Order: sequence, then C-alpha cells, then structure tokens
Amino acid sequence: MDKFLIRGGKPLKGKVVISGAKNSALPCLAATLLTDETVTLHNVPYVKDLITQRRLLEDLDATVLTPELHTQKIKAANIEIYEAPYELVKTMRASVLALGPLLARFGQAKVSLPGGCAIGTRPIDLHLKAFERLGATVSLEAGDVVARAPKGRLIGADTFFEKVSVTGTENVMMAASLAKGKTTIHNAAREPEIEDLAELLNKMGARITGAGTTKIEIQGVEDLGAAEHTIIPDRIETGTFIVAAAITGGKLEIENCQPKHLQAVIEKLRETGVEIEERGADKIFVKCGGRGLRSKDVTTEPHPLFPTDMQAQYMALMTQAEGAATVVETIFENRFMHASELVRMGADIQISGNTAIVRGITKLMGAPILASDLRASASLVLAALAAEGETLIDRVYHIDRGYETIVKKLSAIGADIERITENLK
Ligand code: EPZ
Repeated sequence: MDKFLIRGGKPLKGKVVISGAKNSALPCLAATLLTDETVTLHNVPYVKDLITQRRLLEDLDATVLTPELHTQKIKAANIEIYEAPYELVKTMRASVLALGPLLARFGQAKVSLPGGCAIGTRPIDLHLKAFERLGATVSLEAGDVVARAPKGRLIGADTFFEKVSVTGTENVMMAASLAKGKTTIHNAAREPEIEDLAELLNKMGARITGAGTTKIEIQGVEDLGAAEHTIIPDRIETGTFIVAAAITGGKLEIENCQPKHLQAVIEKLRETGVEIEERGADKIFVKCGGRGLRSKDVTTEPHPLFPTDMQAQYMALMTQAEGAATVVETIFENRFMHASELVRMGADIQISGNTAIVRGITKLMGAPILASDLRASASLVLAALAAEGETLIDRVYHIDRGYETIVKKLSAIGADIERITENLK
C-alpha cells in the first residue's frame, strides 16, 4: 500500500487549481445511463472513485471514451445488463447511483447492497422507500437490491425523505425524470452537486425545478437525449486547501473554485481568524491572520450549513487554535477516526459520543499514522504539513479516491511530501 512521507513546518505559498467535484461527477456519470445518446462531461476529476464509476458503466456495456484526461464521452446505447456487481459496489458505495437510472430506463435494476464503510453503516433504506413510492417493487436477494417497475415504467408520486440524503435525492431525481407523471421530492438535499445534476438532466431533456431547495419537482418525460456539461469545482477540495494555507501559516491563491458553494466553511474559518478574500466568482486568496487562530465551535449539518466532509480538516486546524473548540458531528455516527491519529501527533482531543473537544494550541510532532477514510486522510495530511519532523501516513489509497494529484499540487506550493510506493513482493 502506498504511503506519504511528509516533512512538516513549511508555510504553503503559491497557486492551486481546484479539480472538478467528485460528488457531482459520480451522479452525473450515472445519469448517462438514462439515454442511448452520447453525453459529454467536462472537468471530471481524475480520481479513483471516478475510475471505478467508469468501470461500472463499462461493465454495463456503456461505451466510455476519454478524449482527454478530464473529459468523458458516454454512450449507454446497448445496455442489456442491469446489475452493479458487488466487487464494484463494495469499493464504492456511490455505485448505488446506478439504481435510479437503470430502474427508470429499463424497468429493472439489481445493485449489490452497499456495505457500511469506516464512517458509518450508511444504509440506503430511504432511496428504496422512495422508489417504492414511484411504484417499484424492491426486494433483497442474496445481498442484492432488486428493483422492478411492474408496469415497465415508474409512476410519478410525492416522496418525502425523513432524513436529508444527498445520493437519495439524486437517485430519485434521476428515476423520476423518466417516470409517468409528476414527482415531488420533499425534504430534498440542497447540496450544489444536486443542482449540478439537475442542470445536466435538464440539458438532457428532463423537466426539473427546485433543485437546491428542499422541494424538487420533476415532470417525467418519455426519453432523454444527448447533452454536454461541465462539472462544478470541488468545494471540499477548496475548503481543504484553505485549511492547508491556514494550518501552515502560509498564503494561497485558489483558482477555479466557487466560493458561493462553501460559504458556511468560509464564514467559520474567518471567525477563527483565517483571512479569506473572494476574488471574483472563481478565485479565493487565503492567508493565516496575523494574530493567530482562535478556537470556534462547529456543528456539521446538511447544506448550506457546515459540511460533514470538512469536519476532519477543521478538527486538524483547531489543534493550532488558541482555546477549546467543540466539534459536533451530526451526519455520520463514526466520523472521528482521525482524532486518535491526531492525538498520536500531540493533539489534545477528547471524544464523547458525537462531540469532540479540541484544545489548542498543541505542538504537533511527526509520527507514523494510519489513514482510515477519505476526509480523515486529508485531515492527517494537513496535520503532517503543520507538524515538526517527519510523518509517515499509511493507506493513502483513501485520499486518492477524492483528491486529484494531491502530492503534485502540494509539492507545487512548497510542501515537502513524497509518495512511497511499496512494491508488492
Ligand atoms: C454523500 O453521501 C456524499 N457522497 C458524502 O461524501 C457526504 O459525506 C454525504 O453525502 C453527506 O453530505 C457522495 O455524494 C458520493 P447521505 P451519502 O445519504 O449520499 C443517512 C465524501 O467524503 N441515510 O446524505 O451516502 C446516512 O447514514 C463522501 O466525499 C439513511 O439513514 O450520504 C447518513 O447518516 C463521504 N438512509 C445521513 O443519512 C438512507 O437511505 C446522510 O447520508 C440514506 C442516508
């Protein structure tokens, strides 16, 4: 397994360009299953999860061309397999996003029930309940979710999510696009990635209104067609690099980002003393405030509030802030695994249930540590960049899932980081 060797203590300086949003590209790739015509997607990030999603489409006999690294042309014309196999789903839960499109277009879908992951059990019961509201029958057969539309086509209906679910909202939005009649999604997720997916679907001929609000209306159509779309920038990568500048006492120019997609993160970081200047619609200039950082409490909530995907990175930053910060994680039941690794580096963090108290400023010392999931890995990289001495982070395949060329991007702004690839004997 690959490792990162990081020698910390260097302020990051320079310019970084943000890649396309992983969590928008994943549903957008799935949406190409809704038509037999060619859909072209630009600004697709070159990360492991998108390589996996591409393999899933190819396993379903879609044609996927990559005319250049960040562009994918998908034509799902001759689909005769309606199944996402376990070996793919177990590596990436987002494969469940194939359910809605396959069910809507072919009246049937079989997707291995995704297991949990490090951060939680991550059920998909709300997705399935919504599909049943659209007239599907759903059963569990030998670990696979099997969904069928009895009359061959889903019927539009009112659906309600008792918990806000990002991919649940996306799955239902895609399924309802081809249903007969109108569907309303109540208590829909409001993430920017939902709006991006709705924009692609409407370009394909769908009739969706309200994306980005808690109530989305979809007027089903007979079929969807070709489209070309550019994926929005990754707001979590943007937030991660803002923290990278702050935690190392550096200053960064962050390009090709959308500050409006992470206002809660920007406001919270400003409260702690990070100086963030929005330059136009797609640039941010960041530097650590002269008076150092102050501890500020944070609670993770669905968009537009502070995102759970920035919680681990924020916790790392609070180890370098004066005072005690209370970090409350309300979305996932087990998303503090980075805390114990930060403590190994010298952080002072007490966990009680879904609440962590981070006391700073603590001097972080390099140490051998272990990555457990995507955003925890980012948190450990940030801590290592601020720490004195060498940090060796193992299992960095987690970070490769969602951060494009992270070593190259960090090295280009002054980080002393190298990837150690272990040759399997
Ligand atoms: C999406 O996951 C993101 N992944 C996650 O990003 C992100 O952390 C999460 O939304 C929350 O913002 C993608 O978009 C591919 P949810 P998702 O359904 O859709 C519970 C990353 O780091 N729930 O919004 O799987 C669930 O257990 C990843 O890029 C049910 O109980 O999350 C959780 O507690 C990690 N039943 C809460 O709702 C369901 O049917 C929110 O989950 C669905 C969800």
